[in-house]
Amino acid sequence: MTNRDHLIGLLLGAEEDWPRAFEEVLRRVGPLDVGGETHTVSSERLSIEPFRLDDPVRTELVIDRLAHWYYHPREWLKKAALVNGTYLLNSPFTFQSMEKHSAYCALVRMGFNVPPTTLVPYKNPVDNVRWAYTASKYNREFDLDAIAQDLGYPLYMKPFDGGAWRGVSRIGDRGDLHRAYDESGEMLMHLQATVDYDHFARALSIGPETMVMDFRPDQPMHQRYAVNHGFLSESAGQQAVAISRIVNAFFLWEFNSAEMLVVGDDVYPIDYANACPDVAVTSLHYYFPWAITALVRWSTYCVVTGRTTDVDLQTRRYFEIADTPGLSYEDKLERYLALADEHFETDRYWEWCGEHLAHLSEAVLEWVTGDDFDRLLRETVEATYPPHEQEQFLAHFRGLVGLWASEQIGV
Ligand SMILES: Nc1ncnc2c1ncn2[C@@H]1O[C@H](COP(=O)(O)OP(=O)(O)OP(=O)(O)O)[C@@H](O)[C@H]1O
Ligand SMILES: [Mg+2]
Repeated sequence: MTNRDHLIGLLLGAEEDWPRAFEEVLRRVGPLDVGGETHTVSSERLSIEPFRLDDPVRTELVIDRLAHWYYHPREWLKKAALVNGTYLLNSPFTFQSMEKHSAYCALVRMGFNVPPTTLVPYKNPVDNVRWAYTASKYNREFDLDAIAQDLGYPLYMKPFDGGAWRGVSRIGDRGDLHRAYDESGEMLMHLQATVDYDHFARALSIGPETMVMDFRPDQPMHQRYAVNHGFLSESAGQQAVAISRIVNAFFLWEFNSAEMLVVGDDVYPIDYANACPDVAVTSLHYYFPWAITALVRWSTYCVVTGRTTDVDLQTRRYFEIADTPGLSYEDKLERYLALADEHFETDRYWEWCGEHLAHLSEAVLEWVTGDDFDRLLRETVEATYPPHEQEQFLAHFRGLVGLWASEQIGV
């Protein structure tokens, strides 16, 4: 039997918790006998250094957490994708559409329930010598009040590319509207109709795997993800998974978290693009072992099966479905999902995992219930919270991860 070694690169910013967990779980993948060959998969943290554009790249796949704000590795990733065919989670070629706005547009085009949304021009002039001429000639005066009235109060004003609540405000009346717009300055803003939701569903996706979680945006970080199974109706739950996978396949995103407001069986997507989704153990707690296992499973599947990556989108295939006369929302969802499943090789992936990675769940459970994981948790808590809060938070996260573990044992 021949041996094949696969190396996964981790391009990291400030995080320590999930990379350590990823490395530990990946070690437990062990050599895999697939197709008459023995495959070993390992990982390495990548460093930042000069590179020649025709240099080889040793890592077949890179999980990137850095390039959305640091440009040297971003350009290295582009080179790796184009010159070396490196598989990327995520690809910088899709960062340009990694704002809310592009995802809204794609979802609107496909017929999903994006709340009515209007993009208004900048409040303050852009810093460019051509501004005065351009503005006097082409910038139309517009009636902000009429737009707001059309959407109805209360509404949300938020940056087209937002994240982390920056610049988000709930607008109750005319006074709020003008105050918020005046303060928006150089930020480009959406105005969006409010959805009075029953549930805020947050879906973390890694390749074809998706976990839909009951998210409480008004809670402090450690309590935002509630452990709550079956909080959505069956239909809403299925839509939440489907829409997440469809948007990811559409934009070629591999590792993303999506936000949806849910009213009964209706699912309203409001935020669908995260170049670097939160996977901290201090946010995900109960869901952390799943997230790391999924990241290891999908990375292993990609490198061992030789899955390749694209840099160009296939929007036309989705829009043909959108434009087919006579299809209901449910029909369209089903057909888009079939495209997304084709893209992610969903069936093949689960079959492959059943055949080659069946041992992994047990190994993860053993690791999570052992001393090494507890040390990781303690060190993460010590790095995250002030000394007088550490014991309380350690108990909180131990409890939630322990709940996950006891449920696995009970299964
Ligand atoms: N159309 C809407 N209807 C109701 N609530 C909304 C709407 N849009 C935004 N919100 C509320 O405002 C919060 C922030 O909005 P949004 O997710 O669009 O911005 P963000 O900057 O990405 O914030 P975050 O980092 O918390 O995701 C949401 O968590 C939700 O509670
Ligand atoms: Mg958001």
